[in-house]
Amino acid sequence: MVGIYFSGTGNTKHCVEKLIHLLDGTARAVPMEQKEAADLLWEEDFIVLGYPVQYSNVPVMVRDFIQSNSGLWKSKNVLCVATMALFSGDGAGCAARLLEKFGANVLGGLHIRMPDSICDVKLLKTSVEKNQRILRAADRKIENCAEKIGRGKYPKDGLYFYDRIAGFVSQRLWFYGKTKNYSDKLKISMDCTGCGLCTGLCPMGNLTLENGRAAAGSRCTMCYRCISSCPSQAITLLGKTVIKQGRYEKYVKE
Ligand SMILES: Cc1cc2nc3c(=O)[nH]c(=O)nc-3n(C[C@H](O)[C@H](O)[C@H](O)COP(=O)(O)O)c2cc1C
Ligand code: SF4
Ligand code: SF4
Repeated sequence: MVGIYFSGTGNTKHCVEKLIHLLDGTARAVPMEQKEAADLLWEEDFIVLGYPVQYSNVPVMVRDFIQSNSGLWKSKNVLCVATMALFSGDGAGCAARLLEKFGANVLGGLHIRMPDSICDVKLLKTSVEKNQRILRAADRKIENCAEKIGRGKYPKDGLYFYDRIAGFVSQRLWFYGKTKNYSDKLKISMDCTGCGLCTGLCPMGNLTLENGRAAAGSRCTMCYRCISSCPSQAITLLGKTVIKQGRYEKYVKE
């Protein structure tokens, strides 16, 4: 068993690591952007695949990973784990359908509610207490799920036809292609001190230092990792200012 995940702000990383640990104390979880992920996919036959939903869809990076390793999925047992802030009809189903096209045996889908990773839109921010309650509920759901899987019962979140209708009508119909449209929209303000932190964090290699300041290219996949980590709060995407940065490890310390 191996966990392969993509995680912008640490939510999905936590969920996959916790689930994997409960299912098999010796199993590892690796981020998708590491080269090792494809090697482990080749070696292992049970994959826990985790990602955050973006507009009720699979992030571009995750879709690319699945497609660029299309020959490795045949007969693999896969559990799709989708984290989300509020709702996604078929967050797990979106990857499941693609994986089945490449011959994978999708055993289940798990939806886990986590804090919202979008930190520059006021409407989406909640209190620390509420986020901590969300995290406790998420941990309980993961523990429950691991216990049921131990008895051979897999969750089926997001895998039914009506989930697909819900995901389409509530989000994809309106936001389809939004992540592509935002691939070159990252804004870096004059508050940037040129510390370079973001350039090492971006999973897409989309950030560089130019003349002592960060500069963004056109490969952003809206993961919010750099925006949530910049010490000067100089990066924004959907909004104009950072309201409150949120990362998984920050919530557990608060
Ligand atoms: C661009 C973008 C789109 C998102 N769309 C949704 C969505 O459609 N539904 C939802 O419930 N959460 C949505 N979220 C919230 C994330 O899915 C959620 O916070 C997730 O747990 C982040 O996980 P991570 O820290 O592993 O990246 C979105 C976040 C981003 C950045
Ligand atoms: S992390 Fe922030 S301050 Fe540091 S280089 Fe990037 S944008 Fe500038
Ligand atoms: S530029 Fe920032 S938000 Fe965009 S993919 Fe890179 S780390 Fe994620």
